Amino acid sequence: MAIHFALLLAGAAMVQVQNSYSYAASDWQSDITTAAGIGIDGFGNPQHAQNDYEVDRLVDAFSLFFSFDMSYSWASSDMVSIVQKYANSSAMYTWNDAVLVSTYSGESYGDSFWSDFKSTLAADGITIILAPAFTTYRDPSDANSLMSTFSSIDGFFNWWSWPADVDANLTTATDLAYQAVVKSDRTGPYIMSVSPWQFKNLGTNDTDWVELSDTLWYYRWLQAIQDVNPDIVEIVTWNDYAESHYIGEINSNVDLGDLAPNYVDGFPHTYWRNVSQYFISWYKSGGAPTVTDDQVIFWYRGWPKDTTCSTGSPPRNYGFPVDAVFALALLSSEASVQLYIGSNSFSWDAPAGASIGSVPFPTEDSQIPYIEIVRDNTTIKSGYGSLQVNQTGCSYYNFNPWVGIID
Ligand SMILES: *[C@@H]1O[C@H](CO)[C@@H](O)[C@H](O)[C@H]1NC(C)=O
Ligand SMILES: *[C@@H]1O[C@H](CO)[C@@H](O)[C@H](O)[C@H]1NC(C)=O
Ligand SMILES: *[C@@H]1O[C@H](CO)[C@@H](O)[C@H](O)[C@H]1NC(C)=O
Ligand SMILES: *[C@@H]1O[C@H](CO)[C@@H](O)[C@H](O)[C@H]1NC(C)=O
Ligand SMILES: *[C@@H]1O[C@H](CO)[C@@H](O)[C@H](O)[C@H]1NC(C)=O
Ligand SMILES: *[C@@H]1O[C@H](CO)[C@@H](O)[C@H](O)[C@H]1NC(C)=O
Repeated sequence: MAIHFALLLAGAAMVQVQNSYSYAASDWQSDITTAAGIGIDGFGNPQHAQNDYEVDRLVDAFSLFFSFDMSYSWASSDMVSIVQKYANSSAMYTWNDAVLVSTYSGESYGDSFWSDFKSTLAADGITIILAPAFTTYRDPSDANSLMSTFSSIDGFFNWWSWPADVDANLTTATDLAYQAVVKSDRTGPYIMSVSPWQFKNLGTNDTDWVELSDTLWYYRWLQAIQDVNPDIVEIVTWNDYAESHYIGEINSNVDLGDLAPNYVDGFPHTYWRNVSQYFISWYKSGGAPTVTDDQVIFWYRGWPKDTTCSTGSPPRNYGFPVDAVFALALLSSEASVQLYIGSNSFSWDAPAGASIGSVPFPTEDSQIPYIEIVRDNTTIKSGYGSLQVNQTGCSYYNFNPWVGIID
């Protein structure tokens, strides 16, 4: 049931897939069809351990690349055998005719580990392109040291697609610095991550956080398209539910554990894919696509950030998100986009294409947003959100947004 999709030369859009333990072939088929339908070219499937479940499911994916999760303990020989097993598959994503291998982390293994890994594969006739996400390399001033320390790497994947525990929007400083050293010194791709959100609340201090993501799904795409133009965009993620950055459906076959259901169930992100479809098309074609069908995609949390909840504790950085409904308009031509919630309202003259606005949460309890697209004094489309913003009755500190659409 392998499904293949052509990769476009202007750049590939890939996405991280996790949590596939209980996936049936039909789940893969459905995810691949959905992902391909919005222009995604392939899945990066994190490898946790030799013979891990996710390995067996790799061959079903449409186009894929290895993404070894090096925060688990790996023997080089196990990684070599996994790559050997799949390297000839027509579904493998290649770069300059070599199999692309990426990671999450792995810098602590040292350069000799990676050069041995590559040379062992090379001795077997398998050339790889290594573009790892060495996550301690985030500071732009460390870019040269990455190159001098790791002569074995061919490219780089910048994992960091959220602000770093600061109440400020993400800049492209890291992207531009690491892209520049890759381009000046190596032949592999610079892979840029793009993510809609970051919130996790699994009950301990080192698993509870939120990063300022209110408008990230808008401006990060623009950074990728207008400022960075990376070789590959990697969306983080398709289905990492616990960190709230999933753009795939919430799959009831996946065991979310004890605590993540408190903030994932009932919080679908389906319509974030409408946003990515637009920007993927723009990234690949080099021009903003023409919108034929007006739509407003909007997202918001269920409680103001200072609400006291009956269980758990507020996540790190809980003060950063703005208490507001965020709305991204994708319009065929200029219109007024009007946002209402409780006694608050906001409108802006939205141009053709993409633009974003927001309306602050009201003080009234149990309110839902109402959104209108008005053109030439006529309401073209309108609709409501279905999650109420409540001031009380919070049972869990949930900073994962609900995502809706007017279309
Ligand atoms: C992969 O293809 C190469 C070249 O055709 C061949 O030498 C090698 O045996 C193949 N490996 C596997 C695992 O099929
Ligand atoms: C982040 O950018 C948005 C516009 O996308 C802006 O409204 C907001 O004020 C910025 N936030 C910070 C903390 O600078
Ligand atoms: C978590 O951090 C808070 C604030 O820094 C501290 O008061 C609390 O004791 C910590 N809890 C644990 C389990 O470490
Ligand atoms: C938005 O996405 C939904 C779900 O993928 C799809 O059914 C719908 O056609 C999309 N809307 C537009 C206007 O593209
Ligand atoms: C919209 O309505 C206002 C007030 O009734 C009017 O002044 C304006 O000309 C109308 N605009 C259009 C495009 O019809
Ligand atoms: C908000 O409160 C209403 C009752 O006023 C309730 O029906 C709804 O489930 C609450 N929302 C959430 C997300 O708990």
